[in-house]
Amino acid sequence: MSDASELLSATGTTPEQVYTPQEQPGWPKGNVGTLDEYRKRYKQSIEDGDVFWDKAAKSTLKWTIPFTTIRSGGFEDGDVSWFHDGYLNACENAVDRWALKNPKKTAIIWESDEPGQHLHISFSELFKQVCLVANVLLSFGVRKGDVVAVYMPMVPEALYAMLACARIGAVHSVVFAGFSADALRDRINDAQCKVVITADQGVRGGKRSQLKKITDEAVAECPCVERVLVFQRTGDVLATPFHAGRDRWWHEEIAKQRPYCPPTLVNSEDPLFILYTSGSTGKPKGVLHTTAGYLLGAALTVRDVFDVHSDDVFGCMADVGWITGHTYICYGPLLNGATTVVFESMPTYPNPGRYWLTVDTHKITQFYTAPTAIRALRRLGDAHVAPYKLDSLRVIGSVGEPINPEAWIWYHEQIGKSKIPIVDTYWQTETGSIIVSPLPRVTPTKPGSATLPFWGIEPAILDPTTGQELKGNDVTGVLCLKRPWPSMARTVFGDHSRYLDVYMKPYKGYYFTGDGVTRDKDGYYWVRGRVDDVINVSGHRLSTAEIESALILHPRVAEAAVIGVNDDVTGQAIFCYVVLKETPAEAVSTLSTSVARMPHPDGPDGLKRMTQELVQQVRQHIGPFATPKRIVISPDLPKTRSGKIMRRILRKVANGEIKSTQEEEISKLGDLSTLADPGIVAVLIAKVHS
Ligand code: WT7
Repeated sequence: MSDASELLSATGTTPEQVYTPQEQPGWPKGNVGTLDEYRKRYKQSIEDGDVFWDKAAKSTLKWTIPFTTIRSGGFEDGDVSWFHDGYLNACENAVDRWALKNPKKTAIIWESDEPGQHLHISFSELFKQVCLVANVLLSFGVRKGDVVAVYMPMVPEALYAMLACARIGAVHSVVFAGFSADALRDRINDAQCKVVITADQGVRGGKRSQLKKITDEAVAECPCVERVLVFQRTGDVLATPFHAGRDRWWHEEIAKQRPYCPPTLVNSEDPLFILYTSGSTGKPKGVLHTTAGYLLGAALTVRDVFDVHSDDVFGCMADVGWITGHTYICYGPLLNGATTVVFESMPTYPNPGRYWLTVDTHKITQFYTAPTAIRALRRLGDAHVAPYKLDSLRVIGSVGEPINPEAWIWYHEQIGKSKIPIVDTYWQTETGSIIVSPLPRVTPTKPGSATLPFWGIEPAILDPTTGQELKGNDVTGVLCLKRPWPSMARTVFGDHSRYLDVYMKPYKGYYFTGDGVTRDKDGYYWVRGRVDDVINVSGHRLSTAEIESALILHPRVAEAAVIGVNDDVTGQAIFCYVVLKETPAEAVSTLSTSVARMPHPDGPDGLKRMTQELVQQVRQHIGPFATPKRIVISPDLPKTRSGKIMRRILRKVANGEIKSTQEEEISKLGDLSTLADPGIVAVLIAKVHS
């Protein structure tokens, strides 16, 4: 975090265009009516939080045993609890309520990878399928509190698996299907999962991924796993290994069960799920969410941030392997009794009109995606949007990283037809649900700003060096939150002290988000990006330390430093500096640039091979989505005399802020006198920019 001040000073100015909401004829009355109403309710949620949350929790969720206590605990010890003497079941809230009331209504629309192939699953069918899977899990010996790993493609069965866990009080740990065997293994072992739910293969963009083979490779090193339940997505049994002692086919197991399973009584504070996310250190954290508070955040944000009404079709294009998929594909829409879309494909398959075809086909009312997809589609041209009407849309959302104004305006004009409100929603795996966002047709928007806080969220901007709160408007600092909110993560699975260290200890009395932020003259929030060693590639959060540990595992690597470089499409991209073990001694100590042009001991082919091996190393350790954009093999890294790597220099050189070794260019790097070997700077510049 020492670089926070420097990272924040690099942020640009804020454009001032304001988009005022317009009333649209024929649209239903908004769940929040006016900006004044927002301000009034927001004020109550802060000043009279107990009254606000008591009412919200009672009117939004179905309680088996109602709570009498609203909130206890605080940030200091990380002992926050909400509604802790209440009992409810997450699956009953998301499924049973609507299956009873409106059984024929569509709960899930599955849009498969191939356009034209889709399925509608009603609430009564969802109820039945979830009960069947819940009974299968019970038959495997899964009990309340056990952790079940879910490594699934984007099929309705992924939601059945999650909801089945919730039904019996088991804790799901969904692992994104793009993660490698190594990454899956580490996550299964960390939570000691007895059961893994997976599929034979995944299908995306016309290509198949070998999910079961990857699972087998992972589980070979997971002594805790007793059963693997395999859903047949493609039915390619010849390509799918099967271990009769341990593995069970999904379709065979559900055929044995009765389609009713009573919901288990679950306390508000019992865990609902674990989701691993990257932090500043190498090991991913198992962020743990509990039941009632999380559900409340999911339900309320879908209702108010997306203005969902009961007949709406919610189209969140994320993957269930990330928090966005948990909250805005599975729990949030279903808790509102709305229809949710499970999208198996990708924005450019079979052509860049796929999203818009999907919107028109299913009459999607809320569409939610990431800036990286918007930027990529914008580049591919408006012709791919033109054939579609997009007239079912009422709200379009953005999430995962700051959205640049150009992309925002394109989204507004091309997809929103200059009238549909955009919600730029800021939140994190740890916050559980959206915490800063405009409300559609309520909050005037400015392209690039997530605008104002949601109910109960009290942001504070702190000076990163002094930790002092910066009051008033027109301030920039690190973003913290001042009071607990219901859907906040409660702990890091198996490591509560890490939870305290990462979120609660950096600034005493506050929750620390890890993001830099500006509050402008109107009190609007502009989230700038991470100030820690976390980078954001296409909305996927990666830890530089985790990539560095992957690189170090290569037998020839002595040292590695990974940083994020700006990228027009993916936001940030992975840039790795690697020092090999057998670098000749004279190259390390040189003060001249000539070494950069010296032939590498491996020769040009050897160097290329080495680079490819390193890329492969990262893909194997984390997954293909973590593929480095560039690897520079360097004789050394810029270090202080005490051995600390000066990332500031690496960042500026990689981002092309410094391109030549001329004195005035080098002077832009600031004070280099603390470097053990100032000559390394010129060597790096030559390596990166020659
Ligand atoms: C980080 C959280 C929770 C959504 C998916 C990512 C960045 C997220 C925005 C936004 C600017 C954003 C932050 C945050 N981020 N949304 N609207 N504007 N930045 O979840 O993997 O936990 O990553 O994503 O840096 O800390 P995640």
